[in-house]
Amino acid sequence: MAIAQETGRDGGRVIVRPPAPGDIHELEAIERRSFPDPWPGVIFLGELAAPGRYHRVLVEPGGEIVAYLFSAWQYLDLHILNIATHPDHRRRGYARRLLGLAREHAERRGGESVTLEVRMGNTGAIALYTAEGFEKAGVRRRYYGDGEDALVMTLPLGAV
Ligand SMILES: CC(C)(COP(=O)(O)OP(=O)(O)OC[C@H]1O[C@@H](n2cnc3c(N)ncnc32)[C@H](O)[C@@H]1OP(=O)(O)O)[C@@H](O)C(=O)NCCC(=O)NCCS
Repeated sequence: MAIAQETGRDGGRVIVRPPAPGDIHELEAIERRSFPDPWPGVIFLGELAAPGRYHRVLVEPGGEIVAYLFSAWQYLDLHILNIATHPDHRRRGYARRLLGLAREHAERRGGESVTLEVRMGNTGAIALYTAEGFEKAGVRRRYYGDGEDALVMTLPLGAV
């Protein structure tokens, strides 16, 4: 699988690659610091083995995973299942970069849209998605385990 080198906003070289089973503990650690309902390792492992997926991690030159995105094809929509940036590495453009990669992947494969759910109260993430062109597409009531609603946001592709 191809490994790409990208220049981060800080000028450092960030490697983009698919996640591997050996990354799971690191992903779990970021996950626990990022979400009230973190994915356990078994879900990450299941995702690595599942068909029709597009998953990427961003790795700094020292080898530390700084951000990741997991997504799954649902017909012609690429659905973002999970996206997070390590708390010590936020606001450096990593999540924006991952969304751009997902968008490029979806466009290359003839996808019609990229879609995700986000907690209604997650104003930082909603600001990110809005800045990247996602539009509010609906609400899923009590979508999360603690009862919070999800905002559904979608990025239409191929629109002129
Ligand atoms: C949401 C999250 C993934 C953003 O990651 P990030 O790498 O820090 O985001 P970026 O640096 O790529 O942000 C790009 C732009 O999005 C917007 N943005 C990102 N985080 C923001 C925040 N907390 N508040 C306001 N705007 C924000 C800004 O416009 C930002 O550009 P700027 O830094 O030039 O102002 C990260 O905060 C995170 O992991 N949060 C916990 C997990 C989570 O909520 N995931 C989303 C679930 S739906």
